[in-house]
Amino acid sequence: MKVLVIGKGGREHAIVKKASESRLVTKVFAAPGNEGMGDAAELVDLQETQIGELAGFAKKEEIALTIVGPEVPLMNGIANVFRKEGLAIFGPSQAAAQIEGSKQFAKDLMKKYSIPTAKYEVFENLSDAKRYVEKHGAPIVIKADGLAAGKGVVVAMTEKEALDCLHEFMEDKVFGEAGSAVVIEEYLEGEEFSLMAFVQEEKVYPMVIAQDHKRALEGDLGPNTGGMGAYSPVPQIPEAVVQHAIDTVLNPAAKALVQEEAAFTGILYAGLMLTKEGPKVIEFNARFGDPEAQAVLPRMKSDFIEVLLSVMKKEEVDIQWKKEAVVGVVLASAGYPGQYETGTDLGTLQDVPENAMIYHSGTRKAEGRYVTNGGRILTVSAEGETLEQARKIAYDAIRRIPANGVFYRKDIGHRAFIAAKK
Ligand code: AMP
Ligand code: GLY
Repeated sequence: MKVLVIGKGGREHAIVKKASESRLVTKVFAAPGNEGMGDAAELVDLQETQIGELAGFAKKEEIALTIVGPEVPLMNGIANVFRKEGLAIFGPSQAAAQIEGSKQFAKDLMKKYSIPTAKYEVFENLSDAKRYVEKHGAPIVIKADGLAAGKGVVVAMTEKEALDCLHEFMEDKVFGEAGSAVVIEEYLEGEEFSLMAFVQEEKVYPMVIAQDHKRALEGDLGPNTGGMGAYSPVPQIPEAVVQHAIDTVLNPAAKALVQEEAAFTGILYAGLMLTKEGPKVIEFNARFGDPEAQAVLPRMKSDFIEVLLSVMKKEEVDIQWKKEAVVGVVLASAGYPGQYETGTDLGTLQDVPENAMIYHSGTRKAEGRYVTNGGRILTVSAEGETLEQARKIAYDAIRRIPANGVFYRKDIGHRAFIAAKK
């Protein structure tokens, strides 16, 4: 069968690679993809938002399954259009994707169905929002209601920081209309982890967990980013906690969406904080995490496409995972998540150690070499018997890449290593 992957980042590269390894698959297309995935997929010159054209392409090429990587086409209703055209697609409808697209929708759903999460209020008026912050004090968390590529969240440790942030979001509109409503949330303290599952309506098939590194700088400092690295497994999160999160978060969320006539098909991602009272939801996403996909998918032993097809039929599936660990380190342009330059030389990227893989996101080819072409440039994911080994391989690989005008965090996995030393 032929498979179409929509999107162009590192996450989509990981999906493409896994799909290309499936024994059911003869050909993988990526729209638009990126040149770094060139050997695993044929690139299609269509952007992820050209929904009508993408459906036309899928029909013409007799694509048996389309997999959607990023959130934007999902919010724009790509799954609705494909299904209406009789095309198989793994991704939620526009209504179901609101669990990511609108923090308010997600929060209201959690409240209604008693899914544990931080206390919150939604504000559309700056002076009401300020009054709330003044009343509750810091630390406090402020989130733009709409999509802001993982950057519309400020964990304010002081009241001043919180008030400044409200002005930026609601008055200066640094995220445009995404910031005209804000969610103000209780600050949760604990260990964070990402739990993703394949979901078909009320049926939930969990994956192994990962931990992302959202902050730009070592020691979890600096601004929030789309994610600077991820690893799996996460040994400091006990198995019983994961099971508890499946029981109290993923299963009820999938059922709630069915009840709300927004049944979910696709990847449901719960960003969780393990608090003293148990795991609580920080956010839901309607897709694989990036870079979590680059750490979790390489650990999947089962045939990825077989799993997807079984999930879509709600069959019983026992998904097999490798016991090996994966550490993925993101290389980003200097300045990211703020302003950055592109066009910096990365060399040929041919010199990759065994057990390591480069997942491309913001690269482009120029005369046989790669140059930077985005904020997050690539993820180097390495597999090892232990996290320690995987980390070493990943950093050995990343040090072989010319480092002018780029940066990466040198402490990916640090929380697991600190926990192991305790
Ligand atoms: P989000 O985009 O909602 O995942 O938020 C980005 C990051 O901000 C999360 O990964 C957390 O590290 C942090 N964060 C978000 N909400 C909270 C909260 N209520 N308490 C503490 N940290 C939070
Ligand atoms: N890495 C976090 C996300 O994909 O939302």
